Amino acid sequence: MSQDWTDPTLYPGYTLSTRKEWLDVSAVNDALDSEMVYWGARLPVDVLRKMLDNSLCFGVYYTGPDGVRQQVGLARLVTDEVSFAYLTDFYITHQGKGLGKWVLQVMDGILSSWPHLRRLMFITDPTRGKPFYEANLPRCHEQDLVSKGYTMLEKLYDGAPKIFQ
Ligand SMILES: CC(C)(COP(=O)(O)OP(=O)(O)OC[C@H]1O[C@@H](n2cnc3c(N)ncnc32)[C@H](O)[C@@H]1OP(=O)(O)O)[C@@H](O)C(=O)NCCC(=O)NCCS
Repeated sequence: MSQDWTDPTLYPGYTLSTRKEWLDVSAVNDALDSEMVYWGARLPVDVLRKMLDNSLCFGVYYTGPDGVRQQVGLARLVTDEVSFAYLTDFYITHQGKGLGKWVLQVMDGILSSWPHLRRLMFITDPTRGKPFYEANLPRCHEQDLVSKGYTMLEKLYDGAPKIFQ
């Protein structure tokens, strides 16, 4: 079931929502194609729609005085909504207004309510992303499986971001 969040005092004009029908495929594609989303790439519209439909998406929307709703951000969770969640395609175009922090707070609240969730995972860069997450996502930390006697493997496929190829 989708949910909406507003906070007219802190974020006037903005709505955070998990509604699938509000997602603006064209706006998301433009963001994926931009330098801001350095790991992403434009996708065929039907493929992008499928990707969004199969994810738990937090869309950030701005409604101006003209009443037109515009998508200005996204955070996408690839998740079974029980045991695992992977955060990706997180961006805000109206930056520096606290919206990214708000998305993390709302998302963390939802994830904390899932009693069987094992972990949230995500990749970020150590200089820009890591300080943002450490400041705004309580108790998140750099993964250290090795000291616990484990390691993590991956296999990259054709859609892997160029930065990892
Ligand atoms: C990272 C991003 C989502 C943050 O969204 P935002 O709405 O601009 O961030 P906020 O305004 O909520 O900032 C919240 C706090 O984090 C800080 N912050 C924001 N971006 C930061 C960064 N890259 N590094 C360190 N701190 C950062 C802000 O200064 C602010 O601090 P304050 O609470 O002390 O004032 C946004 O800048 C963005 O889309 N960047 C490009 C895409 C990207 O890098 N996404 C994350 C990839 S893992």
